[in-house]
Amino acid sequence: MSKENQTSEEIRSSGMKDDELVNKHVRLNQIKHEPTKGFLQAPLIFVFVFGCLIFVCSIQLAHTTNDFQLHPPKEIVELTPEEKEALRLDRKISSGEKIFAVRCASCHQGNGLGIAGQYPPLAGSKWATANPEIITNIILKGLKGEIVVKGETYGTSAAVNMAAVAINDREIANVVTYVRQAWGNDANEVFEDEVASTRAGSVEQQDQWTGDQLISMYPDSFSN
Ligand code: HEC
Repeated sequence: MSKENQTSEEIRSSGMKDDELVNKHVRLNQIKHEPTKGFLQAPLIFVFVFGCLIFVCSIQLAHTTNDFQLHPPKEIVELTPEEKEALRLDRKISSGEKIFAVRCASCHQGNGLGIAGQYPPLAGSKWATANPEIITNIILKGLKGEIVVKGETYGTSAAVNMAAVAINDREIANVVTYVRQAWGNDANEVFEDEVASTRAGSVEQQDQWTGDQLISMYPDSFSN
């Protein structure tokens, strides 16, 4: 066994003097903890250099991802203007269909046929398919009094009338466009700004419209 590896007990029993013992301990300590002076700086410099490297690399990476996307779109489809237009109209009509289901179908029914003697049909109705301002006005203010739709008279009872439907211009444009193109109806699309100007033009009208009022406002739509 070398002298270095002797325990304090062994050293003590070997009859060492105190200062020898102290020196011995100092030596032993130095063996356990190797001198760190100067060493500490090296890892610190590495930490700093690697830190900078990671920082610079991250910036570089963020700048040059080369259009990398974690979730790339399945397929990049370039739509022709016609396809885009068809898609826009499709979305508008399906939005209109949803609005119709919630705001109109309870009376006019999902098939647009209404309920005989009570709720008039929208399928094949001039009120719905002639000048779009008519149906827009009806939604904006409601309708009461007798009207004739496809040869049948409705509104004979004052209890059965239509209240204004509180939806915004875009929703009206969507639902009117849907009604005008559903169930075999084949009338033109209606736009939000047209609804806005019909709304502006009807501010004077406080009550529900009557059929006669609308007929006198749009005589061309009801001739023949
Ligand atoms: C609470 C029942 C009710 C709801 C909801 C309702 N209507 Fe009506 N609607 C009526 C009644 C009743 C008349 C007939 C009023 C009359 O005879 O004066 C009518 C008439 C009409 C007319 C004119 C007549 C015709 O059949 O073409 C149109 C157009 C119309 N409604 C569209 C709509 C649209 C669009 C909605 C939804 C945004 C709607 N209505 C919601 C009850 C309703």
